[in-house]
Amino acid sequence: MNVTQKYSLLLFILFIGIFSSSCNHDRNHPGYAYMPDMYYSEPSSAYSDNAVFRDSITNQMPVPGTIARGKMPYPYKQKSFPDQIAAGKELKNPVPVNLVTLKRGREQYQIFCASCHGEKGDGNGHLYTSKLFSAKPTSLIEPYVQDKPDGEIFHIITVGSLSGLMGAHGSQIDKEDRWAIINYVRNELVKK
Ligand code: HEC
Repeated sequence: MNVTQKYSLLLFILFIGIFSSSCNHDRNHPGYAYMPDMYYSEPSSAYSDNAVFRDSITNQMPVPGTIARGKMPYPYKQKSFPDQIAAGKELKNPVPVNLVTLKRGREQYQIFCASCHGEKGDGNGHLYTSKLFSAKPTSLIEPYVQDKPDGEIFHIITVGSLSGLMGAHGSQIDKEDRWAIINYVRNELVKK
């Protein structure tokens, strides 16, 4: 065995040693972490004191003007005819008409509209026919509503009718679902 072979053998044994021992660690002690303050964060609980912030409170208010995702304020005024017309001109229905969205629109209509406007959309919902609600809900299948642009109907659902006899539904029904209801009213309540 010459010198090179000896060293190769030595290196080989060393390598086997490192290789087999490196897999044999206690898993609760995974070894050294360089810069441990970057690997392990130190959480503060929401209501604890906090030395980092100027007011010493962990739970900080959002920056003024922050808008939560999907909570964009509605820009058109309630009970304003010009705003209702503007919404009709400016808002476009982003929800495509297909089997999935029509099914969603039907479900949402039955939950939020049918009690007043009726299963058929003719205005004879249970709350009206049982005299629990005295104002006659408008028929949604006549040209008076059908000829309105989608944006105007969206506006009525969102902030309520001009007279206020029908209340606002913007906080109860998701934006997408309001559009889906309109698709349903146009494409299924009215048979084409
Ligand atoms: C509590 C009963 C009630 C519910 C629930 C209700 N409406 Fe109405 N809706 C009415 C009444 C009453 C009117 C007529 C009031 C008026 O003209 O001011 C009306 C009017 C309307 C109009 C016509 C408004 C206009 O400018 O003449 C539309 C469109 C309409 N509703 C759609 C809907 C849709 C879509 C839903 C479900 C998201 C719904 N409504 C839920 C009672 C209701």
